Amino acid sequence: MQFLRYPFEPRYMLLTMSVMLCALFVVLSQAWPYYAEGLELLSVIMAAFVALGVHDLLQTRHAILRNYPIIAHMRFLLEDIRPELRQYFFEGDKDGAPFPRDKRAIVYQRAKKDLDKRPFGTMYDVYQEQYEWLHHSIAPRPAAPIDAMRVNIGLGPQAYSASLLNISAMSYGALSANAIRSLNRGAKAGGFFHDTGEGGVSPYHREFGGDLVWELGSGYFGARNMAGGFDATLFAEAAADPQIKMVELKLSQGAKPGHGGVLPAAKVTAEISAIRGVPMGQDCVSPASHSEFSTPIGLLEFVARMRELSGGKPAGFKLCIGHTWEFMAICKAMLETGITPDFIVIDGKEGGTGAAPLEFMDHVGMPLRDGLSFAHNALIGVGLRDKIKIGASGKITSAFDMATILALGADWCNAARGFMFAVGCIQAQSCHTGLCPTGVTSQDPIIRQGDLVRRAI
Ligand SMILES: Cc1cc2nc3c(=O)[nH]c(=O)nc-3n(C[C@H](O)[C@H](O)[C@H](O)COP(=O)(O)O)c2cc1C
Repeated sequence: MQFLRYPFEPRYMLLTMSVMLCALFVVLSQAWPYYAEGLELLSVIMAAFVALGVHDLLQTRHAILRNYPIIAHMRFLLEDIRPELRQYFFEGDKDGAPFPRDKRAIVYQRAKKDLDKRPFGTMYDVYQEQYEWLHHSIAPRPAAPIDAMRVNIGLGPQAYSASLLNISAMSYGALSANAIRSLNRGAKAGGFFHDTGEGGVSPYHREFGGDLVWELGSGYFGARNMAGGFDATLFAEAAADPQIKMVELKLSQGAKPGHGGVLPAAKVTAEISAIRGVPMGQDCVSPASHSEFSTPIGLLEFVARMRELSGGKPAGFKLCIGHTWEFMAICKAMLETGITPDFIVIDGKEGGTGAAPLEFMDHVGMPLRDGLSFAHNALIGVGLRDKIKIGASGKITSAFDMATILALGADWCNAARGFMFAVGCIQAQSCHTGLCPTGVTSQDPIIRQGDLVRRAI
């Protein structure tokens, strides 16, 4: 029934008006033969708009066109066909935040397998202070086969061979069902893993069978008892799923370290309630800190428990570095107990989120390069670096970003917003409103139909 609403949605207005005007001009041309020629011409023009709108709705390449038929062509017209207009009216290649236009464009092009080369020379002023470059060798080696570029995480029969680039944690709920489906389909096709985010494993994570890393946050969603604590039996049952390759405990994320989160009762649908194991009609809270442990030793014991309950799958934790002495205390606890996580993921302050208070987003937590090199060196210092793999996330969208982060000590990289771009995100920055124009982060059934396109990837 809600399809009846479609013609009256503001975003479909141009299409609806074109249909009405086309019909009107046809009728008038019959009624007023004197003006028939002109009216017929107008009806043909309107029919062309209708055809364009229907094509936009049916095509599977651009989410924005599906959601904004006809009108969205203005964006492409100004951005792509007439770049000089964009330069004056909109952003330049190096403009736009948090990701400048050229960083987004390269992801779009590669995701669509479009031409991704550039002509003429760098647009950077290479004598600027912030300019960064890599040293090359005078004896470059041939590129290694893609299969050889993997990292082994964990020990024993359940050890996991991970890609050097993977999809960082983003929950179903923060992202739409179709975004989750297409990310997981990409993970399957590309042989990399897809982190579930703290919202639990949804049916959309399972449809295409891409490798999963199950993230458990302070809400323990998917393995949660009635009191909001950790349910070991539920965890063991769920973690036995062979699609789940590793288990990850989330301590914090760079965009809002120490904050936690709330999914308001109104958003706790029957589906979300079943996936997360939370009651409907109540706010679904991820507290700022964990209830299952409160000391570094407690943290390590919990990670070891997750490993044991999952049948020996690699287990680790994710955090944004804050007080450095706290990380050192965890290192000390590792030495004291002999318990080491299989991996640690360092998330940078510059990392993304679905929603966070501005103060947290802008000023709390250590940027990736500082946090990563600190953690890497701390683990070397205590003699444990060879036992623990390090993943890293924070605005990684290109091979240059990866090379930089790997050189600073990471064993692999995760990207969140880069993969959002790959499934159609245009950095509209409305993830927190539910009104994402491409549907990537929206749960609105009408907007979400735009990201059906991603199933075609
Ligand atoms: C929409 C969105 C939802 C996210 N949800 C989670 C989450 O559930 N758990 C988590 O650990 N990090 C979450 N993150 C953080 C990302 O996993 C990642 O650590 C961070 O965005 C840095 O990567 P990026 O710069 O490539 O986006 C989320 C990020 C975004 C953009």
